[in-house]
Amino acid sequence: MRIVSGMRPTGRLHLGHYFGVIRNWLKLQNEHECYFFVADWHALTTGYKKTGELKSNTEELMADWLALGLDPSKAVLFVQSLVKEHAELYLLLGMLTPKSWLELNPTYKDLKYNLLKLHELKDAFKERFAGRTDELIRLLGVKVEEPEEFKAFLTERLAELLVEALFEGLIEKETLKRLNVSKKEFYETDTYGFLGYPVLQTADVLAYKGEAVPVGEDQLPHLELARELARRFNRLYGPTFPEPKPLLTETPKLPGTDGRKMSKSYGNAVYFADETDELRKKIMSMFTDPQKLRKNDPGHPERCPVFAWHRVFSADEAEQIERECKSGALGCVECKRRLFERVEAFIAPVRERRKELLSDRGELWRVFKEGSEKARQVASGTLKQVREAMNLP
Ligand code: TRP
Repeated sequence: MRIVSGMRPTGRLHLGHYFGVIRNWLKLQNEHECYFFVADWHALTTGYKKTGELKSNTEELMADWLALGLDPSKAVLFVQSLVKEHAELYLLLGMLTPKSWLELNPTYKDLKYNLLKLHELKDAFKERFAGRTDELIRLLGVKVEEPEEFKAFLTERLAELLVEALFEGLIEKETLKRLNVSKKEFYETDTYGFLGYPVLQTADVLAYKGEAVPVGEDQLPHLELARELARRFNRLYGPTFPEPKPLLTETPKLPGTDGRKMSKSYGNAVYFADETDELRKKIMSMFTDPQKLRKNDPGHPERCPVFAWHRVFSADEAEQIERECKSGALGCVECKRRLFERVEAFIAPVRERRKELLSDRGELWRVFKEGSEKARQVASGTLKQVREAMNLP
């Protein structure tokens, strides 16, 4: 099976990336024909203003990949922007992509709202509307089948409309300031490239006639678009592309050090680049069960992030730790100390390897340029077929 997947170069890899994505890639590279790439063009869709770190972020990602065992002799490892065929296919696919498919894409809407921190604003609006919808329905004089559902629909749409109105310039500057909304930021983020993000992603996959795409849940709407576009292309110009299907894998739950989802932006991530002291500090200050105040208090491992990590890193010992925590025999400090030893043993060799790899960046680029050449050969074959199908020279 042909497998394609990419990752944006946003910085160093953390444990969440490893357990969520890379571990799965490592398995796949042994079993299938795999194309894994650094999606540097995708990083530009939101980060086009600050490209100062793009190159070093790409290098850090390359080093992390190789240090973790992605192997250029097993998988084609490359850089998206070095394979211009992605851009050609992106342009052509853009011609047959209805704009509404993109605007209604929930990931697009979500990301847009997240970037602009609009969720809070929208929720605040929604709260205010909530009590008024009965009144509104009465005014409208309509009878509805599902009053609760209709009310929810109405408040949702009203809140969305208000946010839109903010940006259409229908609301006073002063009010915008008070709501902490930056119109400039909105216009600068909500670009053509950003809207086209999933079309580029579709081109990434179809350029290799990818059959399966290992992704996280959040990427499903993008992949749905890829399938729809493949179908549309095949219908218009003749059978050319397989419909790529998502490969969702069970991933162990590894929360961030504060118990929330591990994420760079929360500052709760542990990186393969973390030095021993830094790692110790992060682990020793991890959140634990808030009800276990003293060492001998009985703990609740099921709601303790440290224990969630033990399950992953100390599988052979997890049951014992669980018992000792519950009985009060094991205090949090000792429990974290044990965890640190485990995580350090896991990270240390990767840390060393990535450091070594980063000491020769020319070599990193050589490896990825070679991969990009291999990728190009396949992608240019596809593009030749695509041009023929579309009657282009
Ligand atoms: N959008 C993906 C992410 O943010 C990255 C990506 C770009 C990708 N192109 C892709 C993933 C193609 C799978 C296939 O995680």
